[in-house]
Amino acid sequence: MEWAVLLLLPLALCALLYLLGRWLLGLDGDLTLLWAEWGGQRPENELPDKVVWVTGASSGIGEELAYQLAKIGALVVLSARRENELERVKQKCLEISNLSSKDILVLPLDLTDRSFHETATKIVLQHFGRIDILVNNGGRSQRSLFVDTKVDVYAAIMELNYLGTVSLTKHVLNHMVQREKGKIVTVSSVMGIMGAPLATGYCASKHALQGFFNSLRPELGEYPEIIITTICPGPVQSKIIHNVFTEDLSKPTDADVSYSQKKKA
Ligand SMILES: NC(=O)c1ccc[n+]([C@@H]2O[C@H](COP(=O)([O-])OP(=O)(O)OC[C@H]3O[C@@H](n4cnc5c(N)ncnc54)[C@H](OP(=O)(O)O)[C@@H]3O)[C@@H](O)[C@H]2O)c1
Repeated sequence: MEWAVLLLLPLALCALLYLLGRWLLGLDGDLTLLWAEWGGQRPENELPDKVVWVTGASSGIGEELAYQLAKIGALVVLSARRENELERVKQKCLEISNLSSKDILVLPLDLTDRSFHETATKIVLQHFGRIDILVNNGGRSQRSLFVDTKVDVYAAIMELNYLGTVSLTKHVLNHMVQREKGKIVTVSSVMGIMGAPLATGYCASKHALQGFFNSLRPELGEYPEIIITTICPGPVQSKIIHNVFTEDLSKPTDADVSYSQKKKA
């Protein structure tokens, strides 16, 4: 009997370790995220009736986020440059949710046009009376070698991904400081933490965002209910590859062309 136990115990232990290994390898996230998923607040409890402003909502991650928010009853502000795409996203939000038209505000906005960001913030406040969450998601990546890339491209990437985000954050944060609460969520990237070839400017802009928000967070110590979060996704299938900056700014993307044609009309 004792021999049987001595034989079976290591086998049972091995089986347990094998199952634990399989479980760990299949995890989609780090342990902090899994802990939050298991014991944290649930979006469907926390987000109904919250006013969530999403930039880059005309495509990709921002578009999908808009659908998920609408489904659980958040009030959504959709921003990006292409108004027709935002209207398409709004229509789909209405089809898949119980929201009505006034619960979704389409607010076209160019992140590089910083002079409009204060007015844009006022438009949201006039419409909804508050901003609970700003999701800084709009941005573009890059695909070009440093040796081939004009310095203007680096300026444009920083203007969009970094300064555009900082500018909008500034105006929305003023409102959140007055209310003493709110959340600013910024979609950075895994490239905000590490480097990658063909993306020197993109990585630099995302590193800049990481540095900015990691420094802003402790500045807001007096406001414990203002939460600053940066998210660092790995590769996500979206239009990002079609919209990349290349070595020369004179090569516009499809989104650039459609936006400037609309602007001229
Ligand atoms: N996909 C990935 O693998 C991945 C990984 C990590 C992080 N991210 C980050 O996730 C965010 C969203 O990217 P995505 O993958 O969803 O790409 P996407 O499908 O190309 O979406 C980019 C969004 O940004 C908007 N945008 C671009 N230029 C803008 C401007 N000047 N002003 C305002 N909005 C502008 C675009 O709308 P308009 O063209 O209509 O303006 C679009 O809605 C980006 O910040 C990106 O860096 C993506």
